[in-house]
Amino acid sequence: MYQYNEQDQTLVEERAAQYRRQTEDFLKGELTEDQFRALRLRNGLYIQTHAPMLRIAVPYGLLNSKQLRKLAHIAREFDKGYCHFTTRQNVQFNWPELERVPDILDELASVQMHSIQTSGNCMRNTTSDPLAGVAIDELEDPRPYCEIIRQWTTLHPEFDYLPRKFKIAVSGAQLDRAATQLHDIGVHLVKNDQGETGFRILVGGGLGRTPVIGQVIRPFLDKQHLLSYLEAILRIYNLFGRRDNKYKARIKILVKETGLDKFSELVEAEWQQIKDGMELSDARIAAIKAHFTPPAYDTDAAQDQSLATQLSANPAFATWYKYNTAAHRVPGYRAAFISLKAPDSPPGDMTDTQLDAVADLADRYSFGQLRSTHRQNLILADIKQADLFSLWQALTNLKLATPNIGTVTDIICCPGLDFCSLANAGSIGVAKEINEALDDLDYVHDIGDVKINMSGCMNGCAHQSVGHIGILGVDKKGSEWYQITLGGSSENEAAIGERLGPAVARDEVTQAITTILDVYVKQRQEEESFLDMVKRVGITPFKERVYADH
Ligand code: HEM
Ligand code: SF4
Repeated sequence: MYQYNEQDQTLVEERAAQYRRQTEDFLKGELTEDQFRALRLRNGLYIQTHAPMLRIAVPYGLLNSKQLRKLAHIAREFDKGYCHFTTRQNVQFNWPELERVPDILDELASVQMHSIQTSGNCMRNTTSDPLAGVAIDELEDPRPYCEIIRQWTTLHPEFDYLPRKFKIAVSGAQLDRAATQLHDIGVHLVKNDQGETGFRILVGGGLGRTPVIGQVIRPFLDKQHLLSYLEAILRIYNLFGRRDNKYKARIKILVKETGLDKFSELVEAEWQQIKDGMELSDARIAAIKAHFTPPAYDTDAAQDQSLATQLSANPAFATWYKYNTAAHRVPGYRAAFISLKAPDSPPGDMTDTQLDAVADLADRYSFGQLRSTHRQNLILADIKQADLFSLWQALTNLKLATPNIGTVTDIICCPGLDFCSLANAGSIGVAKEINEALDDLDYVHDIGDVKINMSGCMNGCAHQSVGHIGILGVDKKGSEWYQITLGGSSENEAAIGERLGPAVARDEVTQAITTILDVYVKQRQEEESFLDMVKRVGITPFKERVYADH
């Protein structure tokens, strides 16, 4: 894991001190609401429905146990005893007091964390594959490149005020677990015909009110040009991106309006001017890579005989193993998901007690590290198979072992009306209702891979447009309605879901979802997944059943 050097540490401490002075000036009345707004947003502090909301950056989702304990402490001392993991692998606190946020930032700085660039029109936290470094389908660990991008983006003076926010995701695996096609820039590690590893660069993806899938702007970029090429794209965006209309300001609109060919030409011309001065040397890449060397794996881990016995003796453990663990590149190890989707808790939420306990589990079983995922769960990436049973028992006691990863109850959900001042409709309550209706685990497992994503408004924080089933809260004359889409995906075959029909009323959402699942179960062919079936039959059979009673 990357460790801050002296410069990094000074930077976050000075930033926290600066924000403390700004907060004090505001509290003394020396800054207006408007003046302060611009300053607080630069530190990830929003004002929400009930209270401020503080967003904390988790670079590429990687955390250590010390940082997790600090989040537990903040949850306990400065908030209401819990925090929220977001689809951008970040953490949000929903109830901090504005006066105490500077103290929180000091606490964060003490464990190499911060809130810099977690909101505002700047380059945001770079996200990545939560299985980076351990995935079996990985070409190369993407995290060193994420870290290089993190250092380049942090307080980059030229890109501090872009037309709109800007998000970059990096993946090094065959299966895209980082939704790279739905980011302003997607970076994918690939091999060229000569067998060299470099990057495929995508541009112009994004969610929100106009969801767009990114296009390949460069099929292969040599590693040494990563930053210069990204810089060239950002410059063109900064120069030509629209600033007159916030809804047309994202790079996806610029790429669409300019056309990919013309946009690429502009980028190419800019790049030619800067590429030689901004090369990433092999030494620099190697120095950052040295922070991500594999931990000291037990080379005898695969000799263990206990797992097979435990699996056959304990069906509940076997179910958890099947759904909540993933293959690991080192024999005798698995990556274990921590499900933040227990039926009775809001998706992505974690209490201070759970945070502390999971920090202990990370120390005991997984080299003191863990990762947040873009589906709002956590992963302990390096669990010896001999430890899985005890880990499962511990997680079960913490209510963190619901065996539903990748199933229909592993719902992504934004805070919606419960917290967000932009929301049109509630989402946490709806997720709970769907969960209650699907309380039969056998049925849930039989349905298999169905991803439900639900946002409380068209900003799309929960990626509803790329959910296999997307649910979007819309406001109709002051009441809550929900638009359903089918067939979206954020993985390799990325697609924007198709609208099922007119929005349904709040009390009909759960019924609509169970009906959709019922149509799938009845009409699927053998092993056919939900997504494959939607591709095969289209939305009509679903539509007919859902609206049959109308
Ligand atoms: C509660 C406070 C929040 C506010 C005020 C907020 C605000 C917004 C806004 C205004 C947008 C649209 C931006 C645009 O289209 O240019 C947006 C998009 C987004 N937000 Fe949030 N958000 C909040 C919470 C969250 C949470 C909890 C998550 C994760 C669960 C999240 C993740 C995202 C993502 C992934 C997008 C779409 C990115 C894209 O357009 O490419 N946000 N948010
Ligand atoms: S999707 Fe809308 S309601 Fe949900 S968090 Fe984002 S801005 Fe708020």
